[in-house]
Amino acid sequence: MTIHTLYLPDTGSANALEVIEILVKPGDAIAENQALLTLESDKATLDVPALLAGTLVALKVKVGDKIKTGDPIAELDSDAATTEQPSTTSTANDKKTKSDTPTTKLDDAATEIKKPSETPVAPVVTAPISIPVAASTPNSPISNSTASDSNTEVYAGPGVRRMARLLGVDLTRIQGSGDKGRINKNDIQVHIKTLIDQAQNGTSANKGFNLPHMPEVDFSLFGTVETQPLSRIKKLTAQNLSRNWLLAPHVTQFETSDITEMEAFRKSQAPIYDKQGLKLTPLIFIMKAVVHALQSAPTFNASLDASGENLILKKYFHIGIAVDTPNGLVVPVIRNVDQKSLTTLARELAEVSLKARAQKLSTQDMQGSSFTISSLGGIGGTAFTPIINLPNVAILGVSKATIQPQWNGKEFQPRLMLPLSLSYDHRVIDGAEAARFTITIAQALQDIRRLLL
Ligand code: COA
Repeated sequence: MTIHTLYLPDTGSANALEVIEILVKPGDAIAENQALLTLESDKATLDVPALLAGTLVALKVKVGDKIKTGDPIAELDSDAATTEQPSTTSTANDKKTKSDTPTTKLDDAATEIKKPSETPVAPVVTAPISIPVAASTPNSPISNSTASDSNTEVYAGPGVRRMARLLGVDLTRIQGSGDKGRINKNDIQVHIKTLIDQAQNGTSANKGFNLPHMPEVDFSLFGTVETQPLSRIKKLTAQNLSRNWLLAPHVTQFETSDITEMEAFRKSQAPIYDKQGLKLTPLIFIMKAVVHALQSAPTFNASLDASGENLILKKYFHIGIAVDTPNGLVVPVIRNVDQKSLTTLARELAEVSLKARAQKLSTQDMQGSSFTISSLGGIGGTAFTPIINLPNVAILGVSKATIQPQWNGKEFQPRLMLPLSLSYDHRVIDGAEAARFTITIAQALQDIRRLLL
């Protein structure tokens, strides 16, 4: 039996390095070059290998210790002791053993701790050598390289790397929860659990689509950042929008409507209703024009059933209105728009907008729409592509009306033009139908007498 003291080889750093992980325990059979512990330098981890094979008798360091080249790290019982260094590090070793003081000192130390043995043993040389660096910088931006190749570029200890190798986990896809983004075993477990959950249930965004996982990126590597939790409404909206975007093949049809006459009428009436506290905005008229178009094209006032094989045509006209609130987007529903006057609609729109912004909408207030309108006309913009509010089959986006030159056959005239953007579910609606539908809305707004027909 021969007890050898293993010393910390040359780390290439004059500073003491912190022991951040111990990978072996007394009694373990140690193979030559097996990693014993991990040290952390500024932004890298270094694995410290055993230079001899044998059985680990004792550790001389613990996690948190700061150690320098030449410090004792472990005691090993090895009859296979050799004075040769691993070939990969022989150059560095040669230099050190020939000239450095620590070598001599280490030899002495090793001899001192030799246990009595009946068989004389050769003096043990465990001189400092350079340590192969096991990992590079932490939080490397996510790369697209393969798991086995790229795992060398992440910030993780050998135990974690071993676990990742065994489980086939690509460490570059994991955001480490440890100090400076270091990946630990728990991070791997959480990652695997997430993958299993996604595979079994699908996330709202990728169910049935088997979309690649969105890698996490540590943006703080590129500059100062601040993390702001999403509101409950934003999280729900995100889920619904992702689902709707993925499930329905969207096409958006654009149109403009000359609302010069409508606007003149609206402006003439507005002061009268202002006194009653009612605001006649263009949206009220647009709601009526939409219902007019829905009555002539029932497939737009419909939903696909769960099997996707039947269209359910609705005989009611409940219009969802996207309302912008400080906490995010909500879509309250105004019911039976076909049966209501412009002033009733104005009152109801004002009520639901207030309720929405006060976060007082009930679930019922937001259920049952057969078509949706999203108006950004009060804000601005020339056009946008709204996402269909499934199970509706279409949604009308409204942008800001502006004065545009229009050719009347003889001359250009300044007209108030309202941009419309109709996104529709191409599984249900054809392009020609969508073009006709949008034109019907545009014409109804152009001459609101049509709404009486
Ligand atoms: N073109 C030009 N001006 C318009 C307009 C349009 N298309 N639509 C509205 N306006 C004017 C209104 O007349 C009003 O002007 P006024 O105060 O001089 O009378 C002003 O813009 C503000 O209108 P607004 O208060 O927004 O009323 P509204 O009836 O048009 O809209 C809501 C009500 C609730 C829909 C609206 O406030 C809202 O929240 N819009 C955002 C919806 C959203 O976020 N959609 C995006 C979903 S992705």
